[in-house]
Amino acid sequence: MFRLVGFICVCAALTPYFASAMTAEQKQKIHEHFETIGMKCMKDHHITEADITDLRAKKVPSGPEAPCFLACVMKDIGVMDGNGLIQKETALELAKKVFEDAEELKMIEEYLHSCAHVNTEPVSDGDKGCDRAIIAMKCMIENASQFGFDL
Ligand SMILES: *[C@@H]1O[C@H](CO)[C@@H](O)[C@H](O)[C@H]1NC(C)=O
Repeated sequence: MFRLVGFICVCAALTPYFASAMTAEQKQKIHEHFETIGMKCMKDHHITEADITDLRAKKVPSGPEAPCFLACVMKDIGVMDGNGLIQKETALELAKKVFEDAEELKMIEEYLHSCAHVNTEPVSDGDKGCDRAIIAMKCMIENASQFGFDL
C-alpha cells in the first residue's frame, strides 16, 4: 500500500521533493493522508492488480477504471477541480508549504507549467476528469526527467 501511496503523491507532481525534504514523521502523516484517499477512491473505482503494478512502476495504468480512480485521487488532493481541470496553482501552493528553496520551487513551477496544455486537450467525459487525469499523468511521467526529477 505504501508504494501505491507514494505513487499517488506523484499525481500531485510533488513526490520527489516531498520525499527528500521531509522528516520521517512528516512522511508518515502524508502517507496516512494519501492512504485514506487511496482507499476511498479504490472503493469507488475498482482498479486491477495490473493497474497497481503499473502504478508502482510509475507507468500509466490501462485498466477500465484506472482513469476515474486517478481523477478521484486528484480531486481529493485538490489538484483537480470540480470541472475536471488541473489546478496548477493548488499544486504549487502545496509545494510552497514544504519547500522554501526558491530554485526548487521555480523548477516545480516550470514542471507544472510544461504540462499546462493538459487542460486544453479534448476529453470524452467532460467534468468527470477521468480522461484528463490520464493525460496529466502521462505528461508528468514524460516530463519529470526533463526537469531532473527522479520519480
Ligand atoms: C513536456 O514539456 C514540454 C515543454 O517543455 C511540452 O511542450 C510537452 O508537451 C510536454 N510533454 C507532454 C507529454 O505533454
